[in-house]
Amino acid sequence: MAAVKKAPAKKAAAPKKPAVPPGKKFRKVKMGIIGCGMISDTYFQASKKFNVIEVVACSDIIPERAKKKEEMYGCKAMTNEELLARKDIEIVLNLTPPQVHSRIAMDTLNAGKHAYSEKPFGVDEADAAKVMALAKKKGLRVGCAPDTFLGGGIQTCRKMLDDGWIGKPIAATAMVLGRGPEKWGQAPFFYDYGAGPMLDLGPYYVTALVNFFGPAKSVTAITKKGSKFRTLGAEVGETYKDIYKPFDRYPVTVTTHLTGVIEFQNGVLATVIASFEAYAHNHPPIEIYGDEGTLLVPDPNTFGGPVKVFRHGENKWIEAPLSHIYTENSRSIGAADMAIALQTGRKHRCNGDLANHVLEIMLAFDKSSKLGRKVDLKTTCERPEPLQLGLEHGEVEK
Ligand SMILES: NC(=O)c1ccc[n+]([C@@H]2O[C@H](COP(=O)([O-])OP(=O)(O)OC[C@H]3O[C@@H](n4cnc5c(N)ncnc54)[C@H](O)[C@@H]3O)[C@@H](O)[C@H]2O)c1
Repeated sequence: MAAVKKAPAKKAAAPKKPAVPPGKKFRKVKMGIIGCGMISDTYFQASKKFNVIEVVACSDIIPERAKKKEEMYGCKAMTNEELLARKDIEIVLNLTPPQVHSRIAMDTLNAGKHAYSEKPFGVDEADAAKVMALAKKKGLRVGCAPDTFLGGGIQTCRKMLDDGWIGKPIAATAMVLGRGPEKWGQAPFFYDYGAGPMLDLGPYYVTALVNFFGPAKSVTAITKKGSKFRTLGAEVGETYKDIYKPFDRYPVTVTTHLTGVIEFQNGVLATVIASFEAYAHNHPPIEIYGDEGTLLVPDPNTFGGPVKVFRHGENKWIEAPLSHIYTENSRSIGAADMAIALQTGRKHRCNGDLANHVLEIMLAFDKSSKLGRKVDLKTTCERPEPLQLGLEHGEVEK
């Protein structure tokens, strides 16, 4: 007699995912913000324009700051622990100071959520490596600012480069110089471990360069500290008011003038200066020199233009129309891109590999200077995919 067939065992129910609303391609991903300081307003405001993300909760170690954002933006203020315990939050935006970034990222991953951090990705290589390792172990994503390279200005340059407007790129310059925020209320933060001109502003420039040329191979640099102390201005910020008084001197623990050359794997040599030692200068933010012309790249700490090109044979600068949208402050576009990538399975553009590689490049400036030689880089990443043309406002992918 034939054996009686057993009814197939019932499959375990798949975890419930919020449904994609009719007529929409992607569902809205809920996010929480940890760190309600100066930059958080930009994120609270700009995130509202992307139809795939929604900030539903916020927290700060100083609870009144989170409460204030609740009043201003309508998201729920709570403690870090409460935010991390909320089941509906999938991505945590970490807007704390650099020294806290990796700790919050680890807490986020341990809570089973994807972690998106402000720059820099970590204060040193070990700091970043532990976040990368935990994300891999947990099967979760990590992302990091800057996302300004997804703005209309840098995306237009990327397209012009890829379309051959200046031929084969040979070399570039990237210059970010200023006197530094020495008189600001939060100034001491910028002269401390994990900041300085390279880790604070370098991410915009180095990420833009990796977006243009792909991963780098080596760094050769000399760096210095201009002075041992800086003097605070009259407006002492809340964060430091118990420690510093107006016109107090505070210590400089980082190098404040870093100059060197990044050698990219595609052969491009980029001369870079990051400095808090210049009262004024006339260098453009980034120039790219190709075998058929020069591309003048706008400030990579912003989203807009202008983009200018000088082509061999035409012998004049021409301002190029911008090919991509998002020319206004759109910080959080990187998180919106991550929210879509979670749903499609593709890589998100502001990913951990990119941020980790950018961090290694930046840290290699001081390392090369100390060692007195070229530093070969250990990490690498993929060149991020350009954004699509023809996006409507609110979209990051068609
Ligand atoms: N301010 C800017 O213009 C700017 C621009 C771009 C990027 N950023 C980056 O954004 C990050 C934050 O900068 P900011 O200027 O907003 O600094 P901030 O000091 O104004 O704000 C940081 C906030 O994080 C909170 N915080 C610190 N530790 C915490 C913890 N363990 N848990 C919860 N909250 C905690 C602080 O109380 C503070 O409110 C930095 O990495 C900075 O480099 C700042």
